[in-house]
Amino acid sequence: MVESRHDTRADSSIPSAYTYFGQFVDHDITFEAKSETLVKLSDQDFRVLTREEIGTKIENGRTPALDLDNVYYKPAPRDGSRMVVGYVEGSGGRHPGKANDLPRKGRNAKDPSEDRAALIGDKRNDENLVIAQLHVAFLRAHNAIAARGQTFDEARRILRRHYQWIVIKDFLPRICDPFIVNDILFGGNKFFRPELDDLFMPFEFSVAAYRFGHSMIRGVYDFNSNFPRAGLQDLFTFTAFSGNLRNFDRLPEVWIIDWKNFLDGGPNRARPIDTALTEDLFDLHAFGKPMPVPVEARLPVRNLLRGYMLRLPTGQAVAKALGLPVMSPAEIERIAQSISAGQLEAVRAGGFAERTPLWYYILAEAATQSLGRLGPVGSTIVAEVLIGLIRGSKDSILRKKDWKPTLGPTPGEFTLEDLLGLAGVLN
Ligand code: HEM
Repeated sequence: MVESRHDTRADSSIPSAYTYFGQFVDHDITFEAKSETLVKLSDQDFRVLTREEIGTKIENGRTPALDLDNVYYKPAPRDGSRMVVGYVEGSGGRHPGKANDLPRKGRNAKDPSEDRAALIGDKRNDENLVIAQLHVAFLRAHNAIAARGQTFDEARRILRRHYQWIVIKDFLPRICDPFIVNDILFGGNKFFRPELDDLFMPFEFSVAAYRFGHSMIRGVYDFNSNFPRAGLQDLFTFTAFSGNLRNFDRLPEVWIIDWKNFLDGGPNRARPIDTALTEDLFDLHAFGKPMPVPVEARLPVRNLLRGYMLRLPTGQAVAKALGLPVMSPAEIERIAQSISAGQLEAVRAGGFAERTPLWYYILAEAATQSLGRLGPVGSTIVAEVLIGLIRGSKDSILRKKDWKPTLGPTPGEFTLEDLLGLAGVLN
């Protein structure tokens, strides 16, 4: 499933900002860390968890609601009605620089997990520089709303609602088949129907379908005018979670993102969703160090083993259950072959063309679409779950009749670009 980081042939129609907005949404609604305490992916005696273990031991570390707990949850510091933002390391001896970094702890030589650690609701939002800069934008957007005289609670409510609007009106129609999104929005959910006061996170979403984003990540980005060819490894380096901020105390000013490059009309567009991932995702680091065991460093291996460990159904079983067309083994093999002879060989060797791991199936299905977005099974799972969760969220816009956004340049409309404009990070 490896694609060379220098392979920049394939572009989808989706600007890369939405790759990382997708990751940001993931970190708002799902964090499964408990299975690691039962079985490690690298264990010699790796095994599938029992139904009993899955039912009683696995927990979600986030609220599944789209309520921005990744932004507001402890240890995120507040200052009256505002959220605290960090300052970048100013160039030319200017200290402090602009308010464009995450708030951070000081240096800690003894404990790498504490060293300059970001003070944010979910530490994964300091995993790469694009999501970290998006997190900064959310903090600043909150403050822009508070500066209009709103209390903390009111500013949070307004931001949550505008964020939910972006998910439904801007993000989902780009990632999923828009007909499927509208059908669910106006015709109601058919499969994912949690009690509104008892939301939960389905594994078919968190361990398979919503990991589609791993395939959208690029190896190289035109990051800003200083770094027109920044590698993904650079974007890991300038964090405290995957990197070490290259030994700066805070983010250097020259690394503030130029969001225009990541939006419509900009040069960075997501890889099309398919069965390949850029090579840097096969070499993950934590706290600046390579992961100790090769299995742990390879993202696709993690996804596949995690799905197996948690007893996910096959793609074919899910397609059937949803009443959607089932991909034939020949189609799956054709997609595998379009990536490499090695991928085809692996698919055949495992019998995976007939019984396909759900994550791989969702990617293969997307590869048959022309616009680089999800196919019918992927679109249905992603849109049903996100819309279902928004319906049950605190401050839900789907339960507030006729709610319309007010913060964008055009009343009644609001996009990710408008949020970045509100945050004052679109220079
Ligand atoms: C450079 C970018 C990214 C990196 C390095 C990354 C890395 C990871 C890692 C290491 C995991 C844990 C895997 C496991 O042990 O099972 C994970 C989980 C996950 N990722 Fe990503 N990811 C990135 C971007 C994305 C994007 C763009 C999306 C979706 C649009 C996404 C969706 C998910 C989801 C849903 C999970 C499961 C979360 C949970 O329930 O715990 N990721 N990712």
